[in-house]
Amino acid sequence: MSDSEINRDGNRATAAGSNQMWGGRFAEGPSAIMREINASIPFDKALWRQDIAASKAHVAMLGAQGIVSSQDMAAITEGLNKVAGEYEANGVPEDWDLEDIHMTTESRLAELIGAAAGRLHTARSRNDQVATDFRLWVRDAMDQADAGLEALQRALVVRAGEHADSIMPGFTHLQTAQPVTLGHHLMAYYEMIRRDRSRFADARVRMNECPLGSAALAGTGFPIDRAATAGALGFDKPTDNSLDSVSDRDFALDYLQAAAQCSLHLSRLAEEFIIWASQPFGFVALPDALSTGSSIMPQKKNPDAAELVRGHAGRIVGCLTSLTITMKGLPLAYSKDMQDDKPPVFEAAGLLGLSIAAMTGMVADSTFRTGRMRQAAELGYATATDLADWLVRQADIPFREAHHITGAAVKLAESQGKALDELTLDELKAIDARIDERVYAALSVEASVAARCSHGGTAPEQVRLRVADARRALGMEG
Ligand code: ARG
Repeated sequence: MSDSEINRDGNRATAAGSNQMWGGRFAEGPSAIMREINASIPFDKALWRQDIAASKAHVAMLGAQGIVSSQDMAAITEGLNKVAGEYEANGVPEDWDLEDIHMTTESRLAELIGAAAGRLHTARSRNDQVATDFRLWVRDAMDQADAGLEALQRALVVRAGEHADSIMPGFTHLQTAQPVTLGHHLMAYYEMIRRDRSRFADARVRMNECPLGSAALAGTGFPIDRAATAGALGFDKPTDNSLDSVSDRDFALDYLQAAAQCSLHLSRLAEEFIIWASQPFGFVALPDALSTGSSIMPQKKNPDAAELVRGHAGRIVGCLTSLTITMKGLPLAYSKDMQDDKPPVFEAAGLLGLSIAAMTGMVADSTFRTGRMRQAAELGYATATDLADWLVRQADIPFREAHHITGAAVKLAESQGKALDELTLDELKAIDARIDERVYAALSVEASVAARCSHGGTAPEQVRLRVADARRALGMEG
């Protein structure tokens, strides 16, 4: 480019001194700041596959409806295939003057096939185009999240089946509460992930309508067939209001809300692994592949992947906040603010995919130290509730009174540095004469978990039932 082609503001001028696409109304090219703030190609090039697919569906429909000739339709389709091949091979070029993926593709199409390229944009606008491309992208992201979460559920179910009988302390306030099984604990996350998947699935059903053909905001006078493009792109139907179609981004917010909720669950699971892997707990050895060493302390094996999953939840919630605030108060229909919809969605999808994969690996490949877990379950008077329940059942004592008697027993055991079942029968009888030797059977951690056999309880028998249900639901039988 020669100096004469650079104007006072440092802008590259086109032949007409203004933008090729909307140059008719503008005498000069945009200022350098305008070009930079306007350009979305650095990030929306991620939509190229969706953009090509939507354009091919659109031009096929224009051809079928006789709005463009079959020769032009064929030339445009072939040209779009060529552009896609170039993008695949070399990436999408970033020319800020071409603003976004839509104009980048159309401009390359024109270079390849000439004037016929100008017919592609008949009966559409970038507003319905971007709404369509972005929906297609978000729909794929939902499908990917679902597939990843299914893999995580499978890993949870496999490990839960292995550990239906492995006893560990259950916590409230992170204080030892009652013994539970590791299988039960892992199946708690299976349930959370099941709901996360259903949130993505709900959102997918709601969003699967095609905005293409809404044009700039009001629809078009060309005799288009919206059902045809909707069908070609895998949508259930065309959207029913053109204004809504070009300005709705709640499909993206639905995705981010589901992603944020899911990331909270992943973050909680990550936090459990971090705690369990710490030396004082020693409940789990994390896979080497998902840990790092310390540059200074040779003994360290750090749970970095789990910590980053915990950290990423913050960023994903930030992405949700970002788009929520972008959309707040925008009048109908399209406003350029909405171009900022894409970076938070792309970022959240990348972070979520990594988080799901990291937690799947952690669940599948960690070594659970069941001996340590069992030992810990025996500390902390985890079976105190079992003593109280025994008093209610065997001695017909009201629960509140039984709770009081048990408190005295715990106090005595604590003062002697003993476990509950290490108190002698005389010591127990001194606290309440109605206690007899049968109580010892209730005080073991095995008896404690086996007793919790209500639906959804921690008894190994219950956990096995739930694991079997889950295996059926995931098609893991046979
Ligand atoms: N790059 C734009 C976006 O992502 C495409 C739509 C532009 N529409 C317009 N009227 N300027 O939102």
